[in-house]
Amino acid sequence: MSETIKKIGVLTSGGDAPGMNAGIRSVVRTCAFHNIECVGIVQGYQGMIRGEFIPMDARSVKGIINKGGTILKTARSKDFMTKEGRKVAYDQLKKEGVDALVVIGGDGSFTGAMVFSAEYDMPVMGIPGTIDNDIFGTTHTLGYDTALNTVVEVIDKIRDTASSHDRLFFVEVMGRDAGHIALNVGVAGGAEEVLIPEENLGLDRLLESLHRSKASGKSSSIVVVAEGDKIGKNVFELKDYVDEHMSEYEVRVSVLGHMQRGGSPSCFDRVLASRMGVKAVESLLEGKSNFMVGLLNDVMSLTPLEQAIKGQSKINLELLRVSDIMTT
Ligand code: F6P
Repeated sequence: MSETIKKIGVLTSGGDAPGMNAGIRSVVRTCAFHNIECVGIVQGYQGMIRGEFIPMDARSVKGIINKGGTILKTARSKDFMTKEGRKVAYDQLKKEGVDALVVIGGDGSFTGAMVFSAEYDMPVMGIPGTIDNDIFGTTHTLGYDTALNTVVEVIDKIRDTASSHDRLFFVEVMGRDAGHIALNVGVAGGAEEVLIPEENLGLDRLLESLHRSKASGKSSSIVVVAEGDKIGKNVFELKDYVDEHMSEYEVRVSVLGHMQRGGSPSCFDRVLASRMGVKAVESLLEGKSNFMVGLLNDVMSLTPLEQAIKGQSKINLELLRVSDIMTT
């Protein structure tokens, strides 16, 4: 165990995700377990620059494992992207006596961590937290499982009204660059078609699939669309397009938005966050830096931050095929 690390700072950064609080709790309690001091950094890198630190002990994280959002708050800091901003942040950390950092966030947050630790002597460890699951080096990011369950619950409800009215619904889900949420909820919610950024199915194929669905006797349909889909039309334009080409459908649109990022974390996310926090702190104490902890084959593993950022989290092609077969 490292003799040099006596105080660890933990922060959440980027878009929030259910399970971030469970991750903070785990980092704080693992520090307490190893007799290391821990401070929470408010509002991510922005709070680091302002020097907003909260001393945290095992009891200060009671009652948060089941809470969505992040008690430390989060931000996407523009100032930290500048050299001057990072210098101020480093000075604040030194003043506070912080020897190492655990950063809970997505690829933008990890890029900041990597640049920072290259410029200054500050060990960093990343915990992937984003509902999009678009990080290489882990099969699951914090919040992803909860978001899937939230969205499936909503799709089930939309299906009720869709089938009562014999309607076609375009349901937009989050996923700026990745279709993991869309593909999984599409299969779980029995969607007719799933439109994701990784595969541009094209408008012809969409119409073909909707015609086939009508011909096979289905009276209502759900098409799940990832927000980053590359078909070239947003959900409202897709509605107009189908209105124009298939008058037999009555079409409605539902954009789920930020509700997907909220809510109490699932059991899976709470356990994952607890495991990741332990691994992150203990890896720092073993003298490691510049890694992201991840779940691979149900084992906690470390991936260099650079790879986690640059590597692609690939869509599951087998699931894409399952989705196609299920619409028969
Ligand atoms: O980072 C996850 C994510 O949910 C994306 O899918 C989405 O595009 C983005 O955050 C929106 O975040 P915000 O509105 O906070 O900028």
